[in-house]
Amino acid sequence: MKYDPQEDNCPLPHSPFRSCVVPRPIAWISSVDEQGNDNLAPFSQCGILTFDPPMVMFAANHYPTGQRKDSAVNAEKTGWFVWNMATEALKEAVNISAMIVPSDQSEFELAGLEKIKADLSDVPMVKDSPCHLECRYVSTTVIKGSSELGTVDLIIGEVIRVHINDEYIKSDGCVDIEKVRPIGRMGYLDYTVIDNTFSMEVPMSDEIRAIMSEIMAGSAKKNETTGVE
Ligand SMILES: Cc1cc2nc3c(=O)[nH]c(=O)nc-3n(C[C@H](O)[C@H](O)[C@H](O)COP(=O)(O)O)c2cc1C
Repeated sequence: MKYDPQEDNCPLPHSPFRSCVVPRPIAWISSVDEQGNDNLAPFSQCGILTFDPPMVMFAANHYPTGQRKDSAVNAEKTGWFVWNMATEALKEAVNISAMIVPSDQSEFELAGLEKIKADLSDVPMVKDSPCHLECRYVSTTVIKGSSELGTVDLIIGEVIRVHINDEYIKSDGCVDIEKVRPIGRMGYLDYTVIDNTFSMEVPMSDEIRAIMSEIMAGSAKKNETTGVE
């Protein structure tokens, strides 16, 4: 089958678009407003933009009334947000934190989550999440949709500090993703759990391999010597 989304002529009963880009990571974004109210919400329109420096993005749809999401407004106003890793063990809390509640109601409390303060800002982080990325807000790009609901605030942030619970680091120094068990968003009401992995190396000539190792060694050296701020 084929269809053009702009023509609204999809022959299937439910739009398959979000099933065609899967699994999507879940940016479980914590933030704080100017009055000190905590906020937590999941976003699957999200991802990595680049790695040197590490940058991430999430896209928050407007409400049909035109109101913007707290996560986007808080990141802009305070200059900070945290990307918490969403895992299978925390899946019910992830879902509860998506509830639409007044800004002064904490999704941490609603979902029964313990919080810890970030190092570089007053943003709370999900204590039981194995990984936190403290992000400094960089920019907002508004992408106009064909309705208010389709309009998004695309928030970009730079990762300034990475926290990983040592329990999830293997003896070879790699993150134990099969132990972390991150969840991913699929189409419809479906999710997936990452519980297995496989490795592959891009084929390359010895010459290219030597150049690549030199670049990677340079980047590792830079990480060693670059202070956080
Ligand atoms: C798994 C999951 C993924 C979601 N992804 C998005 C998303 O990418 N963009 C969005 O605007 N809302 C998304 N939502 C809905 C928001 O989490 C929800 O509207 C939330 O209340 C926003 O909270 P805030 O106003 O506190 O930022 C998602 C919900 C779930 C459960």
